[in-house]
Amino acid sequence: MPDFLYYDSLAGIDPDRSWQDNLEICRAQILRYRPGLDRISLVLYEEEGGRLRTFTAVPQSDNPLTNYDFPLEESASLLACVTARCPRLINDMDIFAEGENDHTRVIRENGYRSSFTFPIFTRDKLYGILFFNSRQSDYFQGEVLEQTDLVGHIIEQVAINYQNRLRSISAAVQSAISMVNYRDPETGNHLKRMAGFARLIARDLAAKGKHRLTDEQIDLIYQFAPMHDVGKIGIPDEILLKNAGFSTDEWELMKQHTTIGRQIIEQLIDNFHFQKLPFIDYLRDIAELHHEKLDGSGYPHGYRGGEVPLPARIIAVSDIFDALTCKRPYKAAWTNRDALEELKRMAEEGKLDADCVAALIENIDEVIAIQIFYRDE
Ligand SMILES: [Fe+2]
Ligand SMILES: [Fe+2]
Repeated sequence: MPDFLYYDSLAGIDPDRSWQDNLEICRAQILRYRPGLDRISLVLYEEEGGRLRTFTAVPQSDNPLTNYDFPLEESASLLACVTARCPRLINDMDIFAEGENDHTRVIRENGYRSSFTFPIFTRDKLYGILFFNSRQSDYFQGEVLEQTDLVGHIIEQVAINYQNRLRSISAAVQSAISMVNYRDPETGNHLKRMAGFARLIARDLAAKGKHRLTDEQIDLIYQFAPMHDVGKIGIPDEILLKNAGFSTDEWELMKQHTTIGRQIIEQLIDNFHFQKLPFIDYLRDIAELHHEKLDGSGYPHGYRGGEVPLPARIIAVSDIFDALTCKRPYKAAWTNRDALEELKRMAEEGKLDADCVAALIENIDEVIAIQIFYRDE
């Protein structure tokens, strides 16, 4: 190689890559200065509820905290760091010997001695918090501290870019959805509840080790869930507003909202250049395949078993559960008990994913909390 070429260590950073990859590149950059940066993790802030939720961490092999969330308010030092919009530097984790809270305890127990914490803001709102951890005390000082701070700012820019892109796709879809909802009787807080159920199921599957879902993937299923019926925009009023008693032709037309949804999503992906966005297939699958049944009796393709991807299975269960437990012009609301019995029966018949149904049954308290938080007036 000619010697005028310079090794560009941060060149790989790209919002089209997964967070995992981007954080690995950042970690490698700091490690060039001194060995000992053992972990970087990003937790996201959820404004509703004021909680911080684990999102991604590197290296994956050294990740004691996944699928975990806690109220920001409960950590005085994080709250101070966020309020002051200033990083927090801890050169000896022993100051938390009394245990500030669960996660601080877990981090200490895993041998981390020092930590640099960097709050990330996008559009003036707290987006999340970056944690840099080392098993050495006093790791973050001098050049290492400067590099860590610089990397924090780079990750913040990646986050802003990532969020803008997610926002623009969801804004475009949201506008389509609100046009659909304007006409569709299935409105109210249905989309918020079913997205909440979808995340609950995904988290439960991950916690039980049933599927290898990272926090990043779980978050995307949650973000994409409300877009499942975007294809209804292509269904004429006289069919969309009809409650029951479809003729065969009308039913065939109604079923097309799945393929229309896929086409709309495909156009959005194209228009916004989202082709390389990690896990964008989830969005395609959710829009197109949320009415597939595992026994092949669903639509539009009649896919069976493993042909129905996990995000579509999760959305199917969440969507049906909320539809059953809601009052509609043509039916009363079912009780949770009856609706869950029905889902169980459908799982036994081989139509729905039994693990997804079990997740709702076993987390009924959380299900009810979501229903109360997003009840229809
Ligand atoms: Fe649908
Ligand atoms: Fe729905």
